[in-house]
Amino acid sequence: MIKGLVPGAEILRWAGDNHTAVGAFNFSNLETLQAVVEASKETNCPTILQVTESAINYLGLEYVVAMISVAVQGAQNRLALHLDHGSNFDVCKRCIDAGFSSVMIDNSLLEFKQNVANTTEVVEYAKKNGVSVEAELGALAGIEDNISVDLQESIYTNPDQAQKFVEDTKIDSLAVAIGTKHGPNKGAPNAPPKLDFERLTRIKMALGGRFPLVLHGASAVDSKLTELCNEHGGNIQNAIGIKDEDVLEAIRRGINKVNIDTDLRLAFLAGLRQSLAKFPDKLDIRKHMGAAREEMNVYAVRKIKLITTPGLG
Ligand code: G3H
Ligand code: 13P
Ligand code: ZN
Repeated sequence: MIKGLVPGAEILRWAGDNHTAVGAFNFSNLETLQAVVEASKETNCPTILQVTESAINYLGLEYVVAMISVAVQGAQNRLALHLDHGSNFDVCKRCIDAGFSSVMIDNSLLEFKQNVANTTEVVEYAKKNGVSVEAELGALAGIEDNISVDLQESIYTNPDQAQKFVEDTKIDSLAVAIGTKHGPNKGAPNAPPKLDFERLTRIKMALGGRFPLVLHGASAVDSKLTELCNEHGGNIQNAIGIKDEDVLEAIRRGINKVNIDTDLRLAFLAGLRQSLAKFPDKLDIRKHMGAAREEMNVYAVRKIKLITTPGLG
C-alpha cells in the first residue's frame, strides 16, 4: 500500500463510530487532486480520494501513484485511495498491486450469482493485501415521478439480497441504489429525485445496523455553478441534483461514504470558464487552471463540512 494511506475500511469504521459519513471525491488530473486533498487537510477530516478506470486510462496508473504519494505527505487526516467502479478483477488487481488502499468492483449489472462470484474473487485477493472492497447491488437509475413500484423493486437494492450478498462476498462496504443517479440530470427538470429512505433503513437493519453503506450519485448539482458555467459559454441543460437535506437524511439513516464527482467538475469548470472569459488575452495556463483549482477547492471544503458532521447518524 502507498505509504501514508489507510485502508478504506478504517475510514468507514471511523465514520460509523462517529455516526457520520466521509466524502469520496473523484480526481482526474493534478489540479483536481490538489483541490480535494488540500480541502481534506484544511478541514482535517478523513477523506477518500478516488479515480475511475477512465481517469486511470487518461492519467496513467504510474502518475496516479506518484501524485498520491506526494499528496498524502504531511497529512494529519486519514486518507484512502480508492478505485471507483472497477469493472473486473484485472483492473482491481492492478490497482491493489499499485498500492491503492481500497477498490470497488462494480458488477451490479450482472445477475446476482455472477456479481457474488466476481466480487468474491476480488475480496480474496484484496484481503491478502490489506485492501478494502466496496461492491454494489441494484442500479443507479434515478427516479422519475411516475416510476412503477415493480420497476422500483427491480432496480433498487433489495434488503434481503443485500444481507445475502454481504454474507457471501465478505465485502467491506456496499453501494446502494435508492434513487440517485450519476451526472447532472438526476430527475425530471425542476423535480429533485425522491430518495427511498425507508428502503435505506431496511437495508441498514438487514445488515445489522453498523455495516458501512455508500451513496453514489450524490452531487447537489448547484444551480449557482451550472449558471456560472452557462453564463460563460457552457450549455448544461436540465440540471438537477440531490438536495443537501437529503444527503444529510441519508447519512442519518446509515450512509457512511458519499461519492461526489459532478459537483467538483462543475466547480472546476465554473472557475475555468470565468477565468478564460475574464482574461481572454492571458496565455499562462497556470492562471486559468489555478482559478479552476481554487473554485473546486472552495467547493470541496463546503462539501466535506456538509458530509462529515459527527453525531448525525
Ligand atoms: O461514477 C463516476 C463518475 O462520475 C464518472 O466518471 O467519467 O471518470 O468514468 P468517469
Ligand atoms: P455524481 O455524478 O452525483 O457526482 O456521483 C459520483 C459518483 O457516484 C462517483 O462514483
Ligand atoms: Zn458512482
